[in-house]
Amino acid sequence: QFTPRVFSGIKPSGGLTLGNYLGAIKRFVDWQEAGTHETIYCVVDLHAITVWQDPAELHAATREVAAGFIASGIDPTKSVLFNQSQVAAHAQLAWIFNCVARVGWMNRMTQFKDKAGSNAEKASLGLYAYPALMAADILVYHATHVPVGEDQKQHVELTRDIAQKFNHDYKVDFFPETEPVIEGPATRVMNLRDGTKKMSKSGESDMERINMTDDADTIAKKFKKAKTDPEPLPETLEGLEGRPEAKNLVDIYAGLSGMTDEQVIAEYSGAGWGRFKPALADLAVEKLAPISTEMARLMADPAEIDRILAHGAEQARVIANPILKRTYEIVGL
Ligand code: ADP
Ligand code: NA
Repeated sequence: QFTPRVFSGIKPSGGLTLGNYLGAIKRFVDWQEAGTHETIYCVVDLHAITVWQDPAELHAATREVAAGFIASGIDPTKSVLFNQSQVAAHAQLAWIFNCVARVGWMNRMTQFKDKAGSNAEKASLGLYAYPALMAADILVYHATHVPVGEDQKQHVELTRDIAQKFNHDYKVDFFPETEPVIEGPATRVMNLRDGTKKMSKSGESDMERINMTDDADTIAKKFKKAKTDPEPLPETLEGLEGRPEAKNLVDIYAGLSGMTDEQVIAEYSGAGWGRFKPALADLAVEKLAPISTEMARLMADPAEIDRILAHGAEQARVIANPILKRTYEIVGL
């Protein structure tokens, strides 16, 4: 009944990390190339402003994320690529979903608790309502599949709850129950200093993350300094249990190389960090350097990026506007 359609997005709130690349962008490219689904990718600038963003930096970051998508292989002739604020239907549907979602559901969102920290009273209302906007991003295209990292699983589940409640309350079968797609070895890349926190754009220290635009020396230095235990790599996969830092570096190697964790362990069993870390750094440079070179080339021509995003927004509106219009009719607006 629903067109097979993939939607996903990335916030323009600082530079892209290796976590964004392995957990999201690289997989977006795989979906595009598989050709089984329409693919729609978005720079979610409305999500970025749930916390303060300097206006000029936000604009630059939006172009940088768009450049990161294109440089990684998102082809604007194969996928719809745009920024969220240019398609008004996202915000319009989000208001309706604010009226469908329950306060109790939002109270259960762990990411709000993480991001608001101990000072939730001072968080923006937008940060609290963020998952309803995310549901609108997805459902305004009737997207059937959403590739995301592990941290977004709860939000996609909330999207399903909103779709179900809307369909139930209005006695329609209008919104699909979208599937989160969380797969591959690197769905939760951890930061390099602490195997228990995810690698994030907004992490405290630059040393704890690999940025997609880091140069070769910086990447080598960061992996060299990455926290590990002193043991060599194990002989079998089970030997990684209880070793979060080691597991993380193996996951990253697997994600970058296209191997499974098991294959990485088979190749490096018994290797010490003095051997594995430089190999990992070389692999990361080999994969990321061409992307960051291409990003720099694209960002030198911001007008061209804006033109691509504007064209994508036109394509996005063609899908989103009729779905929004029908939603209004169902609701009685
Ligand atoms: P960030 O968390 O870096 O601010 P976003 O919230 O914009 O990034 O997330 C964009 C996409 O990247 C989401 O699908 C998210 O799950 C994925 N992602 C972000 N960080 C990681 C990570 N450390 N490991 C795997 N995927 C990640
Ligand atoms: Na995130």
